[in-house]
Amino acid sequence: MTSVLVLNGPNLNLLGTRQPEIYGHTTLADVEDMCAAHAETHGFAVTCLQSNHEGALVDAIHAAKGKHDGIVLNAGAYTHTSIALHDAIVGTQLPVVELHLSNIHARETFRHKSFIAPVAVGMICGFGAAGYTLALDALLGHLGRTT
Ligand code: DQA
Repeated sequence: MTSVLVLNGPNLNLLGTRQPEIYGHTTLADVEDMCAAHAETHGFAVTCLQSNHEGALVDAIHAAKGKHDGIVLNAGAYTHTSIALHDAIVGTQLPVVELHLSNIHARETFRHKSFIAPVAVGMICGFGAAGYTLALDALLGHLGRTT
């Protein structure tokens, strides 16, 4: 069975209460439930992880190799700073769909740069929590599976 890791980075544990005018009212638990329901409906496996620590995210990407077929990654602010996450993706060669709830290109200029984008299959941003299921579908499509 196809298996996907949904990996969330720093501050995404605060979803629902953190700047709801930007990120919405959906909590991380809601997002993870949505992903699990989508996986159940469409017959794939999903594992959800969140960490505020860059090294833990690197470790999670490494550990995904051989265990998951691809990753939906919302790296939060590390998107804009982390060569380590970029290198982890290159190092494992796992397909990654980059995801952001907000449209990072319509926000501050420091959010326009992504170290993930050049090594991702593609990016979904600006669709709020619905982006997670869009990203899962995009990744499954990339893996040759349709939902
Ligand atoms: C984010 C966008 C990032 O710029 C920000 O640092 C986040 C969340 C998003 O989902 O819109 O933490 O990744």
